[in-house]
This record gives sequence, structure tokens and C-alpha cells, in this order.
Amino acid sequence: MATHTTSPSIALTSAGTATGRGTEWWRTAVIYQIYPRSFADSTGDGIGDLGGITSRLEALVDLGVDAIWLSPFYASPQKDAGYDVADYCDVDPLFGTLDDFTRMQTRAHELGLRVIIDLVPNHSSDQHAWFQAALAAPEGSPERDRYMFRDGKGPDGSEAPNNWDSVFGGPAWTRVAHPDGTPGQWYLHLFDASQPDLNWQNSWVREQFVDILRFWLDRGVDGFRVDVAHGLIKADGLPDYTPATDGGSMGGGHFNDTVLEPAISAEEPTPPYWAQPGVHEIYRQWRRLLGEYAGDRVLCAEAWVEPLATLANWVRPDEMQQAFNFSYLETPWTGPAMRRVIDASIDAFEGVGAPSTWVLSNHDVVRHASRLALTGENPQGAGIGPRSPGQPDPVLGLRRARAATALMLALPGSAYIYQGEELGLPEVIDLPDAARQDPTWFRSHGKKYGRDGCRVPIPWESDKPAYGFSSSGESWLPQPADWGALARDAQVGLPGSTLELYTAALALRRAHELGAGAASWLSGFGDAVVAFTNGAVTVIANTGTVAVELPVGDILLASEEITGGALPADTTVWLRS
Ligand code: GLC
Repeated sequence: MATHTTSPSIALTSAGTATGRGTEWWRTAVIYQIYPRSFADSTGDGIGDLGGITSRLEALVDLGVDAIWLSPFYASPQKDAGYDVADYCDVDPLFGTLDDFTRMQTRAHELGLRVIIDLVPNHSSDQHAWFQAALAAPEGSPERDRYMFRDGKGPDGSEAPNNWDSVFGGPAWTRVAHPDGTPGQWYLHLFDASQPDLNWQNSWVREQFVDILRFWLDRGVDGFRVDVAHGLIKADGLPDYTPATDGGSMGGGHFNDTVLEPAISAEEPTPPYWAQPGVHEIYRQWRRLLGEYAGDRVLCAEAWVEPLATLANWVRPDEMQQAFNFSYLETPWTGPAMRRVIDASIDAFEGVGAPSTWVLSNHDVVRHASRLALTGENPQGAGIGPRSPGQPDPVLGLRRARAATALMLALPGSAYIYQGEELGLPEVIDLPDAARQDPTWFRSHGKKYGRDGCRVPIPWESDKPAYGFSSSGESWLPQPADWGALARDAQVGLPGSTLELYTAALALRRAHELGAGAASWLSGFGDAVVAFTNGAVTVIANTGTVAVELPVGDILLASEEITGGALPADTTVWLRS
């Protein structure tokens, strides 16, 4: 352990606690996102499955996380990688069976891991029995009213009911045909045409989801990550809307590159399909339902809502417990921007008694080991590919990612990790066009690469077929030829590896109870440095280009090797205060 002897003058100001002050497990938990298709394949078909997850859970215990969140594994035609659900209460054969789910959950619980599953209420698959019944039923029928069917505009109804675009590109409306083949009504799909939006003004729909929640709660899940939790209610009359700028495909992405700070005040009017006030009563009902179950079950909102003060409405005491902090994810790697978003997060969430969450990667965004070194415009959801401008320098990207993660894991509150980031995986940029599967790629006619590059199956063993992802060597997206050195087995016990950095950070976070702590800003290091204390730990992150002098203290953790008394560029260190 190195000790340093110099000490810049340090001033303390309080950034506050981020836990919202209760003691429930989710206030401080580190939650690991499993993307089932790409985690581990037990059948050799090239697609990950529940059996694969069960067989690899020990690795997550070794890593030191508290819970797992599984992206959808439900019956689905897989038009949007499972976010197009055809049966909310069954497992798709691709992933196994309900018994496989129970085995996975039982094993996770034995190992002390909580299990959160994904709930997709904004839309179903067009193959869901409800939608098939709606198509078969006449206009104006109760079956049609479960979805968002409308007559078209124009004399023959051939124009879409309004001008909304799908998040994935192209119009948000598709016209259906009558049984005799003549054109009929249109239905709304904020995402792919295979994902019709449900009508959440319809009480029958609400009752179905109460049953779905109960189905999984009765089976013992510890909570739900709620997909598109800002989208369920649409403004009355479905008025036209033209966004002023490309605010990112999910409605986030408002940060301003020129000032390098996230816009934490919303400058644009709220789109009529996002963040409508009517969504909140739905979550209040669900929260009451969860309250009937023992064990601190949790709801986490995927709501691309800014500013953070508005997002905090999703986690008021009688609504959800957590919301993903996408403002944090989208913050550029600069000192002022990072300090500002941390302050705003803690203020907003603590103001309603909720924990702040922190997240840098997930299955919808460019992996942060690449994103943090992008030099071109990259609206959320666009992805990157071989023809994208501003290609990231992989060495710089990984260095920044390690520093950014070391900063994130020292913050009080709850943190989310996306599978593979603990291995330092970059975005896979050079996927062949023919391999791409994200509907964004197809609906934007190749204008947006989409999200496949962050979904490539992860490497477990450097010298096995498909790096141990599947025994057959199959992989639903091709894995890069140079991932051997990033495989888990190549990193375990290797000093300085990204896996060892994550493992050490999580162990120290637990030992020092950083999740339940409070951050106090330290100044005196210069604008590019983010520095704070959290209990007995001093955290210093250098986002700038020149080394800065370190204060006295034993080094507990460093995202890069530290020699002498200086903190290099793009490096984070934890010192014993
Ligand atoms: C969420 C999911 C994303 C999916 C979309 C539609 O944003 O994270 O993967 O495509 O919802 O369900």
C-alpha cells in the first residue's frame, strides 16, 4: 500500500447522502444486469439461457454484487430481443422453462443474490393473444380498446392518425386490414411495428398486469425493472408533436456537447407520449401490491426523463423505489459536469426519500469503455459502427471507463453494472451489417447502427469455443477475434485487470459501507478533478489531461498504477482518509 506525503489545501462542502436514509437492501445494492441472450448458453444454440445463468452465478458472487436483474426471457418472437412479449407468464423455449427459472432463482437466493426481472407494460408483442384477438375483433370492440387503435386521417383514412415517429425510426403507426383485405384502422407502436402499445386508460389492461405482477411475486422474485416507465399514458387526443432536436431515441440525451454539461433543466416541451402525469397512479397501485409481500420487493423505473427533479416523481414514497439515473450515464467525463450531475442526483432523489442510483452502461447504450472516448455526436440509441464519425480510441476509452467506474462505485446509493463491463468489454463496432439484429438498424434503413454492439455474448474462457459462452462455439452475434485476453479466466487474479479492479472496488465498497455513506466534496485540486470523502474513504478522480498532486493517504484502490505522489490523467484513486 503506497503512502503519499503531499497535501493540497482541501475544503469540504457537503454533497449529501444518496440513500434516502432507510435501511432496505435496495438503497445501497449493486445490481448486475444479465442480458440473457448473451450471458451463457447451456444448450449450444448460440443464444444464452436460464440454465447458462444458473451455471455461472458463482462468478457474480465472486465479483461481489448484491442482486441480478434479468432482461426479458418471456415467450416472444424476439423481434426486439425479447422486449416484445407474447406471454408475460411463460419462459420462451429459447431460454428454457418456468422450472429453469425457478432453479435459477433458487440457486441465486442460496448464493445470497436477489433476483429482479424485467416487466414490459408499455407494449406487448403483436403475437400476444390479446393483440391477435384485437385484430380479429371489429373496430370499437373491447378487444381493440386494449390497444391504441385509431382511424386514419384523410378522406380514405390512409394517413396516420398523427405525426409521431417510432423510437426505432419510421412512423409510430401501422395500418391493419379488414378480414376481406380492405384497409382498416391504424395502431400505435412507439417502438417496432411488432410492439403495439397497450391502452393504459383501459382498466382491463391494468387488471392483467396486477395478475402478472402477482404471478412473479408469488414465485419469489425480489422486484421488477419496469420498461419504458415514462410511456404508458399518452396525452388526451394524441396531438401531433415535432421534437425540436434529436433528444436521443428514448427521449433522453439532452446534454449539450458544447458546454460539456448535461442539461438538467428540460428545454423542450414534454412529448405527448412521455412522462404524462397519469402514469403515477399506476405505480402507486403496484407499490401497494408489492407492500402485500414480505421481503422488501422493489420496482425500478426505466424512465428517460429529465430533469432529475422530474424523474424523482417516479420514486416518491408511494411509487417506485428506484429509477435509473440516465442523466448520470449521459454525463460527459469532465469535472464540472460530473460534480453537477452528482449534486443534482443526490438533491433530487434525497428530496423524495429515495436512493440515488448510478449507472454507466446497459443493453441500450454504447458500452462506456467506448462511449467515454467518442469524439463525434452520438445520440442515445444510435449506436456506433464502422462508418460512424469520431471513432473511439480503445485504450483511452478503457482507461476512462475504469476511472469512471471507480468513481461511480464510491458514491452513496445503489449502482447498476451491465454484464461484461467488469471485463472492460468495448462496444463491438465492426459487426458485419448482415449480422445486425436490432430493429433500429432496419427501421432506420441502416442510418442508425443500433444496439447490437453492446450485446455481443461475453467471454468466459479465453481458449474455449465462443470463449466459453457456448459449448458449441455458436454465438448469435459474432465475437471479436481479440477477446481472449478479456475473458474472465484470463483476468481472475491478474493484478491490474479490469475484473480485479471491479472486484476490489466492490469489496471495499462493502467493507466501508460506501453505499450507505454520504459524500462531502473536496476542493483544491482544480476544475478537472472530482474529489470527495465518503466516510473513511477519500475518492479523487482526475478527468483532465495533466497529473495532479495527491494528498497524504494509503491507497486503497487505483484505476491505474500510481507511481510517486501524482494522480495521472483519467485515473481515480481511493485513499484511506
Ligand atoms: C426499453 C428497453 C429496450 C427496448 C425498449 C422497448 O428501452 O431497454 O431494449 O428496445 O424498451 O421495449
